[in-house]
Amino acid sequence: MDSSKLERTLDKMRQDWDERARENARFYVNTERTDWTDDEFFASGERTVSEEILTDMINICQGKDPKQMKVLEIGCGAGRVTRALSGLFGEVHAVDVSGEMVAQARAALKDRPHAHVYQNNGMDLSVVPGGNFDFAFSTIVFQHIPSRAVIENYVREVNRLLRPGALFKFQVQGDPTLQTDADDTWLGVPFSDEDAVRMAEQCGFEPRHRHGAGGQYFWLWYFKQ
Ligand SMILES: C[S@@+](CC[C@H](N)C(=O)[O-])C[C@H]1O[C@@H](n2cnc3c(N)ncnc32)[C@H](O)[C@@H]1O
Repeated sequence: MDSSKLERTLDKMRQDWDERARENARFYVNTERTDWTDDEFFASGERTVSEEILTDMINICQGKDPKQMKVLEIGCGAGRVTRALSGLFGEVHAVDVSGEMVAQARAALKDRPHAHVYQNNGMDLSVVPGGNFDFAFSTIVFQHIPSRAVIENYVREVNRLLRPGALFKFQVQGDPTLQTDADDTWLGVPFSDEDAVRMAEQCGFEPRHRHGAGGQYFWLWYFKQ
C-alpha cells in the first residue's frame, strides 16, 4: 500500500473508533447489547477469557505461573477483556488506536496498577516499553482492519516483543465472500488458511493451530520461532 493511502487508513481508523467510542463505546466493543451495565460488560470480558484463555493454558503458559507472566493485548477497546486478563496475569500491557477507547480502558483499570494502556498509531507497537512478553492476544480487532499490510505489521511487531517460543493467539476475519474497502473500518480484510500460514512464516512464527477458517471467527495460534 502506498504511504499516503496507508496514512489515510490509519487516520480513518482512529477517527471512526473515536466517534464510535463517543457514541456508545461498549456497544461497538460488544454489539450483543446497547445498554451494558459495568457488571455485565466486564462479565462478558471474563467469559471471553474463560473461553479463549482458561481452556488453553498449556499453550499460553507453557508451565509458567500466570502471575509471573507479562502479556500484551492488541485493540483493548474499553478494557472489557483487559480487566479480565489483569485478574489472571502478573503484568498486562494493551494498545488501542482510539484515544477515546484508551481513556475508557484506563478508567476501567484504575484499580489495577499492573495493567498499562497505551494509544498507538494503529499499526506498530513502538509505544509499548520493554520486550520479552510471554503471551499476546487479540480478539475482535483484526476483523475490523481493512488493510492486510497493517495486520501483517502488527504480527511482525508482536514477534519483536515476544520471547522465543511464546504464543500470539488472535482472531481474524476468515470469510472470503465479504468484500472489503480501505475506507470501511468496520469490515476487516479476510484471511484464507493459506494466507494465515504464509503470514506466519513471513513474520517469524510457526502457525501451529488454526480454527474456524472460512468464518468470521478464524482463530490463529502463532508460536514465535
Ligand atoms: C470491537 S472493539 C474490541 C475491543 C476488545 N478487543 C474487546 O474484545 O473488548 C475493536 C477495538 O479495536 C480497536 N482498533 C481498531 N483498529 C485498530 C488498529 N489498527 N490498531 C489498534 N486498535 C484498533 C478499536 O479502537 C476498538 O477499540
